[in-house]
Amino acid sequence: MAKTTQNNVDEDELRRMKLEVALEVKSLRRIISAYLNYPEAAEEDVRRNERSFQKLPQAHKELLSHLPSKFQKLRWCILKNSFFIFEMLKAFEPPLDMSQDIDLCEKECQRNVQNNSVFTGETTLGSCRLLSADGRGVSHCIADAVNPVNVIHNAPKEMSLHQYDVLNVGSCSVGERKENEFCPTDGSAFSSTCCNGNVISSTPDWLDPSLQLHVPLVDVDKVRCIIRNIVRDWAAEGEKERDQCYKPILEALHNLFPHRNEESPPCCLVPGAGLGRLALEISRIGFICQGNEFSYYMMICSSFILNHTQTSEEWTIYPWIHSNSNSLSDSDQFRPISIPDVHPASAGTTEGFSMCGGDFVEVYSDPSQIGAWDSVVTCFFLDTAHNIVEYIEIISRILKEGAVRR
Ligand SMILES: C[S@@+](CC[C@H](N)C(=O)[O-])C[C@H]1O[C@@H](n2cnc3c(N)ncnc32)[C@H](O)[C@@H]1O
Repeated sequence: MAKTTQNNVDEDELRRMKLEVALEVKSLRRIISAYLNYPEAAEEDVRRNERSFQKLPQAHKELLSHLPSKFQKLRWCILKNSFFIFEMLKAFEPPLDMSQDIDLCEKECQRNVQNNSVFTGETTLGSCRLLSADGRGVSHCIADAVNPVNVIHNAPKEMSLHQYDVLNVGSCSVGERKENEFCPTDGSAFSSTCCNGNVISSTPDWLDPSLQLHVPLVDVDKVRCIIRNIVRDWAAEGEKERDQCYKPILEALHNLFPHRNEESPPCCLVPGAGLGRLALEISRIGFICQGNEFSYYMMICSSFILNHTQTSEEWTIYPWIHSNSNSLSDSDQFRPISIPDVHPASAGTTEGFSMCGGDFVEVYSDPSQIGAWDSVVTCFFLDTAHNIVEYIEIISRILKEGAVRR
């Protein structure tokens, strides 16, 4: 009898783990699909504007005669952004087998409904919590996050800055890439050919269209949001804003640890590290810094910039094209942004710089984290808490005795 109960528990546990993985694959596919849907969704916006333009009386069209060329220019900028996005996706190494069966999610959900619940234990993974993926109040599911189970059972999954791969650009080296040259002529922004027909890099299997999901437009909005956020963290244009947010933190760290020892640098954790710039800057001033982030939207992008860029200003994007607000002129909207303003791999970081994927609460509640950090720094993170007391308790626990708590 006891054995049967144990078998049932084991089966439940196995099913639960499989479901967790399937849910995470599904949510990661959804995020990848959102990135891949960017050109189509952006093109649809342009088409909608064109249709509106066509409906105008002829006299009004003549007054707005610049618009048709603006639409074409928008398309060109969308292609540039799409190219950047696709190269970013190709460089990403999913931590999961993306080809696995995600129908399990639907089957288990049905089972859940029929049996009330299959799980004997916690059921949080299936439940949606409101999490801010980009700090602007967007709600998304916990399953959008890097799987906390992976990180808890294994060591935190780290993407070390110093383990970056060389960007595979095939016969088209970064230096050779020219403006206009990526232009796919078949209307597909994600063509794998460019540079006069040279294949620039092979497309991984998990980017196969058959694996992609239909995603709501709100997901694609998160991609646009990431593209705008890149400016704040990784462009010269964002320097003023960075100075306002990050400089006081860097100065405080410097003042609190004035005599940093190169042999044994103090360590600093940055939960909710976003696109990773603050963590990089902390590393540059002599801390062993770890950024922690749970949004794949952010991680895909920060990993690309930290690990795969080859020079500063390697990429040009057009982050402002999707909004007609707050621009004085069309040229404001079309201004190109070069990224990154610093080349992370040659930015003078301190050995041990890493990004850790996972939910802050899950990862840093692990006993191995107790008393592990000299300092914990947050920037626009504490207000993402469901329970701020929990965040503070964890921060307090993981700090070394006498470490910085401010
Ligand atoms: C407002 S953004 C700030 C990002 C970055 N610190 C900055 O200043 O640009 C908050 C970030 O925290 C991340 N985040 C929220 N809850 C988290 C959690 N429980 N664990 C890890 N990251 C989390 C979000 O994905 C988001 O990137």
